[in-house]
Amino acid sequence: MCGFFGIIYSDERREMGEVLFKAGKRLSYRGYDTSGVGVVDGSGNVEIRKDVGKIEEVAEKHRFAELSGKKGIIQLRWATFGVPSVRNAQPHKDCTGEFLGAHNGNIINTPALRMRLESSGHKLMGENDGEVILHVIEDYYKITGDMVQAIVQGTKDLEGDFACIITKRDEDRMFVVKKGSSLFLGKGDGYYCASSDLASILDHTKQILTLSDGEFVEFGTDYFIVRDLDTGEIIEKNLEEIDLDIGTVEKGSFPHFMLKEIYESPQKAHSLIGLMSGNVVYDEGVDLINASPRVFITGAGTSYHSALLGTYYFSRISGKLLNISFASDFREFYAPVLEDDDLLIAVSQSGETKDVKNVCDVFREKTEGKIISVVNNLGSTIALLSDLVLPIASDIEISVPATKTFVNQAILFLNMAVLSAKKKMLNVPTIPFEKIPWILEKSIEISEEYVDKVIQAVDRFNEFYILGYGLTYPAALEGALKVKEVVYVHAEGMYSGEFKHGPLSIVHQDYPVFFVSTIEDKFFVLSHIQEVKTRLGKVITVAPEDPELEEVSDIFIPLPTDNPYLVPISATIFFQLLAYHLGVNRGIDPDFPKNISKTITVD
Ligand code: BG6
Repeated sequence: MCGFFGIIYSDERREMGEVLFKAGKRLSYRGYDTSGVGVVDGSGNVEIRKDVGKIEEVAEKHRFAELSGKKGIIQLRWATFGVPSVRNAQPHKDCTGEFLGAHNGNIINTPALRMRLESSGHKLMGENDGEVILHVIEDYYKITGDMVQAIVQGTKDLEGDFACIITKRDEDRMFVVKKGSSLFLGKGDGYYCASSDLASILDHTKQILTLSDGEFVEFGTDYFIVRDLDTGEIIEKNLEEIDLDIGTVEKGSFPHFMLKEIYESPQKAHSLIGLMSGNVVYDEGVDLINASPRVFITGAGTSYHSALLGTYYFSRISGKLLNISFASDFREFYAPVLEDDDLLIAVSQSGETKDVKNVCDVFREKTEGKIISVVNNLGSTIALLSDLVLPIASDIEISVPATKTFVNQAILFLNMAVLSAKKKMLNVPTIPFEKIPWILEKSIEISEEYVDKVIQAVDRFNEFYILGYGLTYPAALEGALKVKEVVYVHAEGMYSGEFKHGPLSIVHQDYPVFFVSTIEDKFFVLSHIQEVKTRLGKVITVAPEDPELEEVSDIFIPLPTDNPYLVPISATIFFQLLAYHLGVNRGIDPDFPKNISKTITVD
């Protein structure tokens, strides 16, 4: 998964390097194995500076700040094709040095293209798939003598989901292509800019053009032209004023985006609850779910866990079974049984996760069924290909470990399960939605109060079991994922009823085991706790106030709600903060954990 940003000004700008660096920092959560910039001055001279490492390191080492130019590109890479190295870093040039470009996504036929290009005399620097784009365009430009046709013809050879930016060094225009990965265009005073991510454009302008797959844009300093990628025909599209606040993507007084975004949960939950009460799309979504004989739901990582919690909500509250799978398993398990009147719910905060997009593709291929997407990024690939988009309205989430978006996804599913039951004239449980922001505030407060005590009890261990039961099982899985992502240790979320069937053998004196429980499920959980206690394990319980649960626990974290549907959401806040503090105590940057990326747009 990578990110790029490009800008073209009406005149030479001394601050070009600074502008590109700032945009790159906004993109840093999308990839950071290598970083690089390419600038072109008013005479068409190209300079590229790129290296292995995070944007801050590379920018300092290669003195981005001294770069000036009339147009420029920055690209940050999360390695897929080609190891992190200078020759695989982006941006790239073609053989002639006429073309400069970068991409995000995956050109899956790169090996075959490289062979074809090299056998026809091209000299490629590395193994990166972004590089082959430049050489393909170089070939077609030689044939057509025209950038538009070179792009229309050349991109037909490129297989896979990607977005890219390319410019001919002596032209006062740039081109961006959207074919399966996110891409936005922004208009400013005397410049246009484009990026794989909204955050890096919002610094400059709120005049945004959201592009659809199969479109490419030519833009100069004071114009843009959208064309169909297949035919080259012009498509009329208008810019729109986006009302996202750039402050959203600032850390403010917080040391990390992750902490800021956890603390934003109450406010974002409040916004979503308000949005859901007045917006017809959620109602339409519930109608589709209630009307469909079979519903499938899928996601990856944290979004899978919120989807799983959603299946518990729908089965418990509305008697509706949602068939769930990991996005990467859907084709293997469910594709053979799909039928035309099936419904798919695709859950993805970024709306760019390739595993989830693959599910949408196979669903489209196999059925006439509709796709509902539950996303945070409304201009995203998955949103644009679905029949109905349900916003989770968390505002941009920068930190790689998902936090506020999980909370809002869970609230969205809870709200829809209740609405589904109401429409089926069922008795619905009392859910104090209006109290949720307060419950989240208190969850944060209580978690911060207890987290040091818990860390003292567990910090010397490098493995954790987090056990849930029923509605809290998804919370246990999500809590374990947070710990894995941010603490770099093995944490396993598990059904507490399963623990005695094998994993219990690991318990020894003081071995920590976390339990998450509702009041309704405590009788089962109490016996599961005893199984650990009798083996001298240390029991840390996260649950609503309850004397019996507190009595048997070595540490008890009292959640500020006993509503069984809200307990999993409240408990997840605790694990988000536990993971955050454990990781920071170990010198880990929680926003950019090693090896992982905010959005994985490759298989
Ligand atoms: C992973 C992220 O790459 O993708 C996780 O590291 C995230 O934090 C998962 O939960 C799914 O992302 P999305 O955008 O599809 O919800």
